[in-house]
Amino acid sequence: MKPRVFVTYRIPEAGLRLLREQAELIVNEEDRFLNEEEIISRARDAEALITLLQDPITARVIEALPRLKIIANYAVGYNNIDVEAATRRGVVVTHTPDVLTDATADLTMALILAVARQVVAADRFVREGRFTGWKPELWLGMELRGKTIGIVGMGRIGYAVARRAVAFGMEVIYHNRRPANPTLAYLVGARYVSLQELLEQADVVSLHCPLTPQTRHLIDRHALERMKPTAILINTARGPVVDEAALAEALRQGRLAGAGLDVFEEEPRVHPDLLSLPNVVLTPHIGSATREAREQMAIMCAQSVIAALSGEVEVSHMVNPEALLLRNG
Ligand code: GLV
Ligand code: GLV
Repeated sequence: MKPRVFVTYRIPEAGLRLLREQAELIVNEEDRFLNEEEIISRARDAEALITLLQDPITARVIEALPRLKIIANYAVGYNNIDVEAATRRGVVVTHTPDVLTDATADLTMALILAVARQVVAADRFVREGRFTGWKPELWLGMELRGKTIGIVGMGRIGYAVARRAVAFGMEVIYHNRRPANPTLAYLVGARYVSLQELLEQADVVSLHCPLTPQTRHLIDRHALERMKPTAILINTARGPVVDEAALAEALRQGRLAGAGLDVFEEEPRVHPDLLSLPNVVLTPHIGSATREAREQMAIMCAQSVIAALSGEVEVSHMVNPEALLLRNG
């Protein structure tokens, strides 16, 4: 009998095709997200789960699925999964790093440029028929050359953003929990600073850290108060890293020049004040949304599932390799 694989929401065919040959594949074809109950009842007897970043893969879900061997998260972030509970049960958790790094770094640059040059508001101005001719001081924005970008979280994506920022003539400073790869930091001339220094010095603060108990509301009212009033904040990481209400207030009071947000504290809800502020550019969590990245993410999930189900000792892109020591079956 082929092992059963449950996919909580349809992912690109390139990944599903690989799985169909090896497994009994069950895909939720509805255009809605499943809750804990629904995942438990539909994934019954599944040996593998492929999940989205908003699926609540709690200890309860993991314990209710006795045959489970692997959870492949269709995302690089995996804060939706109780990894400790999975490890205890010998369930491998994998994610999709690398293949979405450039896509996410590109979107980060798009947001930086869009906020710095007011691209979205200026577009609206043209559509509203208010463009009456070139004027010396119309729609002035911030030039990137010579400005400082502060990267919070110098991982793969942070580094990819740093490389792009250097190409635009920016200075790079960064803050990371652990010392970042010194060669990579050297290559972009990035200087390590404390979070306080980063907030005080950066003209653009860009977030690339995972969401953990330590990074929840890392950018709170106090952090925002440290930033320059001319600075902009970019978040393509996870919404709860920023206290959204405090951000909205800082923007409303002009204590911060602007923000570019791809992620929100309570997705898909967006703080109503952010919707009405002109100096904010909002995108619907599309950091990795290129055809290339999403297809590679699907292939990566499928390959991890196939490796785990065939009992291979190496499963690529594991976040809890210690689970293999406890693996059942
Ligand atoms: C997207 O947010 C991801 O974590 O891949
Ligand atoms: C984070 O997971 C990264 O790839 O930088």
